[in-house]
Amino acid sequence: MSPKDTPYFQFPFDEFGSENELKAEEQNLPELARKAALYAYAPYSKFHVGAAVLLENGEVITGSNQENAAYPSGLCAERVALFYASAHYPDVPVKAIAVTAVKNRQTVEVPVPPCGSCRQVFIEWEKRFEKPMAVIMAGSKKIIRTDKAAYLLPFSFQSDFL
Ligand code: THU
Repeated sequence: MSPKDTPYFQFPFDEFGSENELKAEEQNLPELARKAALYAYAPYSKFHVGAAVLLENGEVITGSNQENAAYPSGLCAERVALFYASAHYPDVPVKAIAVTAVKNRQTVEVPVPPCGSCRQVFIEWEKRFEKPMAVIMAGSKKIIRTDKAAYLLPFSFQSDFL
């Protein structure tokens, strides 16, 4: 197959105009992610990201991006939230993660897509618990939701074939 014939990968996702269209248990996640973003420490990028993680026990853990003068030492909101969840509830699977960003304390209009490193981390959760984790990219005008994080990163790194 020549490169020009190579199809882009495709995966199922839903687009919503409001959080009220999400599943009942997920409807508060975009707003919790927005509130979390207000605690971002982002003096370098000034991009304030928030994440809200819904655990299977019903608890929601939030996180925000935390930057550092040595830029790569900082961490994304999604991983702050997930690593906190794992450190405190190591045996509890994650059902869903919502991510958003704020400008002037308000949710940005467009959905915020997680970076590639966060996608790799999401997939670790799905492998570890053998359960899908929904990813909700929340903007004030549009929300994108996909059932499985693995859809977002084809050919993700894995070492278990060694
Ligand atoms: N950031 C996140 O928190 N999540 C992402 O998925 C992408 C980027 C943060 C990292 C950095 O603090 C700022 O946004 C700009 O890249």
